[in-house]
Amino acid sequence: MPDTAHVAGGRDSVMGATARAGANVALVKYWGKRSSEKNLPAVGSISLTLSGLVATARVEVDSRGARFRSRGEPVDGVAGERMTGFLDWLAERLGVEARFCTDVAATFPVGAGLASSAAIHCAVAAAASSACGARVGLRELSRLARVGSGSAARSVYGGWVEWHRGTRDDGEDSDAEQLHSEDVWPVALLVAVAEEGKKDVPSRDAMEHVTATSPLFAGWVAAQDGDLEAMRRAIAARDLRAVGTIAEENCLRMHATCLAARPPVFYWTPATLAAIQRVRELRGSGCDAYFTIDAGPQVKVVCAPQDADAVAEGLATVPGISRVLRSGAGPGVEITDGAIPWR
Ligand code: DP6
Repeated sequence: MPDTAHVAGGRDSVMGATARAGANVALVKYWGKRSSEKNLPAVGSISLTLSGLVATARVEVDSRGARFRSRGEPVDGVAGERMTGFLDWLAERLGVEARFCTDVAATFPVGAGLASSAAIHCAVAAAASSACGARVGLRELSRLARVGSGSAARSVYGGWVEWHRGTRDDGEDSDAEQLHSEDVWPVALLVAVAEEGKKDVPSRDAMEHVTATSPLFAGWVAAQDGDLEAMRRAIAARDLRAVGTIAEENCLRMHATCLAARPPVFYWTPATLAAIQRVRELRGSGCDAYFTIDAGPQVKVVCAPQDADAVAEGLATVPGISRVLRSGAGPGVEITDGAIPWR
């Protein structure tokens, strides 16, 4: 996609704007950083933006009161500090002297390994840019969102998206681009929820720990370019079996680096393993379905749309799986009309 599209418009009289962004599921994963300060990844990654798991962020300029709210309720602690730091960084970068504050809402559980931080930080970056009237290109928006949360760099675009590692120290070549739009190849994405509560180790802390202590981390980095190349080819060929096989191997390699850390980082529960097993059984009975798992216990399954009912039913009866969320490929970030749907 050319970088001529801009996020603009949606700004209203109180110097605020609202944006909506979908979560994304990485099929070749971002794990490890080459710079924590600029949030630069050790590896490139490829993901699918989702239609069914969406976050909305309202950002206002020069507002008083809590800087970070979720559905109107102030968010304190580490999450509050992290968002406030991001809002201040955005204001400085966009040349705004006043403070930004934000109120967010997601259609799915936050902080549970469902990529909520990607959707939220992407929506916040877009709404902040729009609120202050900045005309920001999509690749620039991707770099802004990246600083809030790496995976947010990918939610700027719909469909199949690659985030480039880049080599520059200033991070200006580490942004995402769309490989194929969401409508070129219909696939279903199901999430088997194994744990409704928050995950133990946030991905940011886990990445730092795993990078520093896992003897398998160097092997993870070395294998990534091969997976990226193979995944680009598989997506271009609309080859679901190849996409799924690469995604499963890449996911297991990421979790192997975590298991080898000292002390180990262990995201799975018994339900996670049971759901993996169920996906393999479903495949044995003819369903085109493949799993991937992020920094949490949930099992995400990519499958052919015609198999989605059978796969959802199969996952719903796995012991310990509380529910199954259904989605497909979704669009990139959008500025909405400025209304705040949850107030
Ligand atoms: C396992 O984007 O949440 O989901 O950049 O520190 O905010 P920070 O990390 P984050 O990490 C996501 C890791 C992952 C894999 C992926 O989405 O590529």
